[in-house]
Amino acid sequence: MDILESKIDRSSDEYKRNYETMAALVEDLKRELKTAREERSAKALDRLREQGKLSVPRRLELLLDKNTPFLEIAPLAAKGVYDGKVHAAGNISGIGIVEGKEVLVIANDPTIKGGTIYPLGVKKLLRCQTISMENRLPVIYLVDSGGAFLPLQSEIFPDSDDGGRGFYNQAIMSKMGIPQITAVMGLCTAGGAYIPAMSDEVVHVKGTGAIFLGGPPLVKAATGEDVTAEDLGGADVHCIESGVSDYYAEDDAHAISIVRKIVKNLPRNIKQQLSTRKAEPPLYDPREIYGIVSRDLKVPYDVREVIARLVDRSEFLEFKEMYGPTLVCGWAYIHGYPVGILANNGILFSESSLKGTQFIQICDRRKIPLIFLQNISGFIIGREYERGGITKNGHKLVNAVSTATVPKFTVMMGASFGAGNYGMCGRGYSPRFLWSWPNAEIGVMGGEQAADVLITVKNDQLAREGKPTMTREEVMAIKLPIVEAARKEGNAYYSTANIWDDGVIDPAATRDVLGLGISASLNAPIPDDIFGYGIFRM
Ligand code: COA
Repeated sequence: MDILESKIDRSSDEYKRNYETMAALVEDLKRELKTAREERSAKALDRLREQGKLSVPRRLELLLDKNTPFLEIAPLAAKGVYDGKVHAAGNISGIGIVEGKEVLVIANDPTIKGGTIYPLGVKKLLRCQTISMENRLPVIYLVDSGGAFLPLQSEIFPDSDDGGRGFYNQAIMSKMGIPQITAVMGLCTAGGAYIPAMSDEVVHVKGTGAIFLGGPPLVKAATGEDVTAEDLGGADVHCIESGVSDYYAEDDAHAISIVRKIVKNLPRNIKQQLSTRKAEPPLYDPREIYGIVSRDLKVPYDVREVIARLVDRSEFLEFKEMYGPTLVCGWAYIHGYPVGILANNGILFSESSLKGTQFIQICDRRKIPLIFLQNISGFIIGREYERGGITKNGHKLVNAVSTATVPKFTVMMGASFGAGNYGMCGRGYSPRFLWSWPNAEIGVMGGEQAADVLITVKNDQLAREGKPTMTREEVMAIKLPIVEAARKEGNAYYSTANIWDDGVIDPAATRDVLGLGISASLNAPIPDDIFGYGIFRM
């Protein structure tokens, strides 16, 4: 493999201004993550103490092996949604290591509205279960939840991707042989009762944990019966009488120690073997990415400079370097894992699409995971390119991206517009994980372009009716709201709040995050390419 020689001038104004811009975005990100982790009301924290419960961060600290990484999923989900305080959509979830095994942990946070489930909380749960199914990760549910957030119940309950889907998934996961363990550390009410019920093994905390289909308030309303939560569905009831729970825990810490024993007892996943080599850091500091990435999405930069700061020893074997140069393709290693990288270096043309397609096919046959580094304003448009078959060539890339069976990982490094998002393995193309950088923007097209399209349509309509074209005021009345909506909704934080990605990450951490993602993905077998590809339009 060749070493990528960096040509960056670290003393240039351009580099310094880019660096400052990205460093400020990363500072904002750190502040947002701290708020999401720590901002809880004094009332909720007091209540937690009164009940003798541990906080979710403490529960996780006890659960996970010491000094091991925790790859948190969507820590800024629901940011700015609801009252702006439903941090992480009410559950702290991620991939961590317990007794040396990678597991997915989903923990309700009782200090956020009693751990109740908001619509985005359901979406996050389903996303986590998808991650578990795709990567065959055992799941540990730390349940402590008042069930559905009742004022929004119509958005949580009835549809195919609403609450019921979580229990459906649990059954499917069980059939797939994925172990699921629940620690009942608070309420599991109504539908929530099915989380432990659908699990393989249930640990139940005395005094605070309770499982019931109807809680005391509902029982009182329905039957007039006065009953405490402990008497209705506490540890004594379920460990001694009903058999719903399997292990009796004195308190939170005891429950977690039992969960660890259960995980220790699980059979170890046979991890997929790749042709790994010794992990080595890049030759260049990953933080230099801050100075390389243009602060203005419209200003191009050489993506090889980014690759040089992501891959082991900055080594890269570039494929078809001189053909279709707007898509850089090549092989490298990240934390010792072999990867095939597809990285945008401009708009996608027919040649770049064909090159990407061939590259994906090779990686797929060789079982080499694919990394998509997305910074794409779209496929080239115009008369010449339509005649050159850009649609059918772009289709080949989209087809190969869709049907490749190796694990795929996407990083949104800047622009993600239009069909470029599809060809570069956007969320709809099932990458195992998708992360955004804080400067990322997403949309069908940019706000200005969308407004221009609608203004042209309106003016054409007026011309057909024999009326004069729009005045400047009329144009601005169309343009401003569209540009404003695109600015707000195209933002990385809006994406992550809606769980269109698995989190916003510091660009300098990309290499480590990818390494953890690849490692997790190898818990699932990579199927032999038995179905091949669909029909490539020639
Ligand atoms: N929907 C909406 N809000 C709820 C809620 C629900 N299901 N359950 C609790 N909350 C809110 C409370 O109103 C309170 O809000 P506030 O902080 O703004 O006052 C907050 O969550 C905390 O509740 P609180 O009862 O003060 O805390 P707690 O730790 O003593 O008890 C629960 C938490 C979850 C055990 C308790 O609130 C409860 O039993 N909730 C009802 C559970 C239920 O029957 N759910 C059925 C839905 S499927």
